Amino acid sequence: MALLTVDNLTLTLNGLIKLDNISFSLHPGERVALLGASGSGKSLTARALLGLPLAGSTISGNIHFSGQNRLTQQPRIAAIFQDTSAALHPLIGVGKQLVLVLRANGATSTRAAWEAGLALLASVGFSQPEHIAHRYSGELSGGQRQRVCIALALASQSALLIADEPTTALDVITQAQVLQALKTYAHAPERALLFITHDIAVAAALCQRALILSDGKIVEQGTIDALLRHPQHPYTVALMTAARQQRHQVSQNALALAG
Ligand SMILES: Nc1ncnc2c1ncn2[C@@H]1O[C@H](COP(=O)(O)OP(=O)(O)OP(=O)(O)O)[C@@H](O)[C@H]1O
Ligand SMILES: [Mg+2]
Repeated sequence: MALLTVDNLTLTLNGLIKLDNISFSLHPGERVALLGASGSGKSLTARALLGLPLAGSTISGNIHFSGQNRLTQQPRIAAIFQDTSAALHPLIGVGKQLVLVLRANGATSTRAAWEAGLALLASVGFSQPEHIAHRYSGELSGGQRQRVCIALALASQSALLIADEPTTALDVITQAQVLQALKTYAHAPERALLFITHDIAVAAALCQRALILSDGKIVEQGTIDALLRHPQHPYTVALMTAARQQRHQVSQNALALAG
């Protein structure tokens, strides 16, 4: 049974259609990329799924989520937002925020939650997690804040994780660590990940399947492998060609530097 089913989701913002009849489903165990250019509607899709539409928007269609929290009967969805500046509590230390989430999700003591929080911070690439745990969000860099938000989302142990461009502020080595942490998390058979990105290389490293969004429409979907080999829609062809050219350019530059 699907964890998330989206049927004919249409969203208008101030009278303009921004998401047009979007349908897809996500099954437990799946990591799916939502790929598209800037402004194509990726973040609006995430907001609609999370029940956080912008003021001035109207939504039609159906969103059905099957995973529920045993305790609250609320759907268990965690999100990592693109803009992390307001995502953390400014007056509660990072470690304590993690403890609060972990305690609400089964950690048996504050001590155990603190240790689990440090392990999560290490998994998103902090080499000295206890230093970060004692900081406030205002004392963190953008990339550090992004990683703390990821650790908090992982701490929630939600069945569905929606991650909106979670690695954009990170260097390649830290990015690889974070992608591994997301992969490990979503590897549990009951979980699924919707990974929003404009970067096909990152999507290919993490996800099995992709939905291609262009101007608010899903124009194509399939396995990343099939999309790379045989893109059908002109937008997908352009995306895949650009990705190949970029890779070629990077290797040419590397050769030129080495030579
Ligand atoms: N707060 C807002 N107010 C008005 N229009 C908005 C707002 N947020 C998004 N939009 C509009 O909705 C459309 C889709 O925006 P969205 O943020 O979903 O794009 P995106 O695919 O996430 O892009 P990016 O890769 O740049 O994050 C765009 O045309 C944008 O102008
Ligand atoms: Mg966005």
